[in-house]
Amino acid sequence: MKLLKLTFAALIALSIASCNGGSGSGQGTTTSEGSNQSTTTATPENTTTPAETPAPAGGGVDLNNKGIGPVKSVNPPLGASVDKVLAQKGEELYKLNCTACHKPTKKFIGPAPKGILERRSPEWVMNMILNPEEMVAKDPIAKQLLVEANGAPMANQHLSEEQARAILEYFRTIE
Ligand code: HEC
Repeated sequence: MKLLKLTFAALIALSIASCNGGSGSGQGTTTSEGSNQSTTTATPENTTTPAETPAPAGGGVDLNNKGIGPVKSVNPPLGASVDKVLAQKGEELYKLNCTACHKPTKKFIGPAPKGILERRSPEWVMNMILNPEEMVAKDPIAKQLLVEANGAPMANQHLSEEQARAILEYFRTIE
């Protein structure tokens, strides 16, 4: 009898051990796979974040995209130095038409125009001013900006191309 009991005990002990071992190692594998995945996901995020950090506003950087609208090339073209008279006109127009939603150096309802020519082509900026409805509907950057502004659309202020050009010149002076 004693021997039988011992055998039973040993069998039970063995089966428990094997069960635990089986499920234990199974869980172990799942956990380590999980942590591997999270490490892999974390890496691209970490790579993207520093690349985006220098740009004060969203929408990424694309200097080749000219946007959608009447402006195919900037006229007069951007000079090597700022045209101060034109920039002064642009600043006045900006104060009248844009400051309800834009601050020069801080994000407000719309992004800050500071440094805009480091992330957008001059044609894109003018098309955004002159044709914002179509831009936010079709242009990849403007679409992204609309999302980041929680769907608040940039208003068409019905400026002339000449007035938009003056504002573009003013944007070059914002420090
Ligand atoms: C009613 C608010 C409003 C007014 C007025 C407005 N904007 Fe905007 N603007 C926005 C919003 C919001 C965005 C982001 C895109 C969107 O959500 O449509 C934007 C985006 C822009 C962009 C793109 C910024 C970037 O980082 O790429 C430029 C350039 C711009 N506006 C210039 C102007 C100028 C110049 C005026 C005045 C003539 C003006 N805006 C008037 C709300 C406004």
